[in-house]
Amino acid sequence: MEILIRATPEAVAKQAADIIAGYARNGSVLGLATGSTPIATYQELIRRHQHEGLSFAGCKVFMLDEYLGLDPQHEQSYARTIRREFTEHIDINDADVFSPSGNSKDPLAAAAAYEQHITSEHVAIQLLGIGTNGHIGFNEPTSSLNSVTRMKTLHPQTIQDNARFFDDAEEVPTHVLTQGLATIRRAGHLLLVATGASKAAAIAATVEGPLSAMCPASTLQLHPHATVLVDEEAAAQLTFREYYQYADQNKPAFQRY
Ligand code: GLP
Repeated sequence: MEILIRATPEAVAKQAADIIAGYARNGSVLGLATGSTPIATYQELIRRHQHEGLSFAGCKVFMLDEYLGLDPQHEQSYARTIRREFTEHIDINDADVFSPSGNSKDPLAAAAAYEQHITSEHVAIQLLGIGTNGHIGFNEPTSSLNSVTRMKTLHPQTIQDNARFFDDAEEVPTHVLTQGLATIRRAGHLLLVATGASKAAAIAATVEGPLSAMCPASTLQLHPHATVLVDEEAAAQLTFREYYQYADQNKPAFQRY
């Protein structure tokens, strides 16, 4: 696992945009995430598209997860959120932005269909945020490391964390569809971004804790090309930080981000 520690959330966003831009130029399949952390990265990519000619032509997007019971047009659905925050502002076909169907009458069939669809593509890079309890996508603690796209019940902590996007915690859906941990691991490159002190414990568990369903993000330890990109506050509980910085500063010339 590659650990990149940057001074500020802005520097994290720039570094993440550098990495994603490399894939966008090749018209790759991009796995994207919602949540507040990636927003600065999306803004930086939009800026590069508008002012520096970065093109996403030919790219497709697969989202990690979706709330169950929200119409795709609902402002807080993840299908709507990724369009509002990112894909409506770049040159990507709207028809090439895919999410699990959160308003399906048959969520189990919708999960299976999404898994089948994503399996038919090669996701080149999967951008990930992390929940304070170590979840990625909506894979809450105890999620099987071999899980695929399925329905999950949100943990009360996640509902509380995400209530800020809704008028009332009561409005946060209790169930979701999410790519599983095995689905996520099929992407060629996993890029997890985290900023702020509230993520420090989850980042330490992800990078330095045991591989465990109790910290779903620890599944990155199984991946041959995983990058954990954090600011100083999110890195605060890493005990090996000097080694990570040394490795980052002494990268072999052939090594790409
Ligand atoms: C939600 C999303 C995750 C995201 C997490 C953290 O639960 N399903 O994909 O990583 O929120 O969000 P934030 O970046 O706002 O802390």
